[in-house]
Amino acid sequence: MTRMIRATALLVAIFCLALASSMTAQQPPPAQFQQSEVDAYRKTLEPLFMLSRGGTAPGMAACVMCHTWQTSLRFALDTPATDSGWTVEQSRKNLAVVTRLINTKDPESSRLLSKPLAPDAGGLGHTGGTFWRTKEDAQYQMVLKWIRSFPADRFVPAPEPTVDFTFFRSCVQPIFQNPREGHIRCSNCHNAGLIGFAPVPADGKTWNDEEAKRAFGVITRLIVPGDPEHSRFLLKPLHPEGGGSYAHNGVRRWATRKDPEWQMLAGWVRGQRTGTSCS
Ligand code: HEC
Ligand code: HEC
Repeated sequence: MTRMIRATALLVAIFCLALASSMTAQQPPPAQFQQSEVDAYRKTLEPLFMLSRGGTAPGMAACVMCHTWQTSLRFALDTPATDSGWTVEQSRKNLAVVTRLINTKDPESSRLLSKPLAPDAGGLGHTGGTFWRTKEDAQYQMVLKWIRSFPADRFVPAPEPTVDFTFFRSCVQPIFQNPREGHIRCSNCHNAGLIGFAPVPADGKTWNDEEAKRAFGVITRLIVPGDPEHSRFLLKPLHPEGGGSYAHNGVRRWATRKDPEWQMLAGWVRGQRTGTSCS
């Protein structure tokens, strides 16, 4: 029994460590919030983040099940202090995280709205699943109203750089087919479906335009233009000790961010690498 408790305590300690390191890595910019803003956020958005739709699968799990530190994403909430939710101090911190995912100048473009929205209703697509079938959904409308309650110039994200398709074709796609020693190809596992950014070319050699465009569509969903550090594509195959995701059911292609290939891809995500030259 004692041993179990000790093991649990150790696990908790490891979790806290990871939490601390991920938090320093993604400190939101200092933002001042009125108490009334924190209260409104607690009343409107937090119940939505906690709400379970009856399962652990995408589109059913509560946002908070995935959006704490484990994902290393920008949308990383503090782990709720108790089962009933966050403390006021935590909410204040979380509000700084959440307001980086909204655009008060162009509310409907907010990632907080467009990620959980169905792609055929204008959503971006979301590994966490579709939560809102249409923009008429009551929850969608509630979040939209909350974003509109701020002055238009309050939270406006910096414009995103363009991520180059030609560079993707020339320098990124070949990575999916060329495993490193002892690894298997990304294409073995990412051939089709929601995370099928690495289809095997139909002719067995090179991707035609249509295949390449489809793959580009999937991979751009898994990156945050301008922000390689929080881009899923650059996190998943990166070793956890080098700052990568806590879990990946596939390979760890890069030990650290210093890997030249990681650097090249980061340059591409920042919009700095374009064209056909990979060196
Ligand atoms: C099953 C896990 C899971 C659930 C549940 C989930 N998400 Fe996600 N979410 C992810 C993953 C993984 C990503 C990163 C990949 C992507 O963008 O599709 C993500 C990305 C996002 C992003 C983009 C973050 C950024 O940096 O731009 C937003 C916003 C978001 N989710 C909102 C939500 C909201 C709101 C809910 C609840 C209604 C929710 N998610 C539920 C897993 C989940
Ligand atoms: C052995 C199979 C396997 C291989 C090989 C593999 N992956 Fe994965 N990958 C998975 C599985 C399964 C998931 C979903 C579960 C998870 O997130 O770990 C995943 C998830 C991902 C995600 C997150 C997708 C999302 O929707 O959020 C990315 C990005 C990713 N892999 C990139 C890669 C890259 C790049 C390679 C090649 C360098 C690769 N993977 C190789 C199995 C694999």
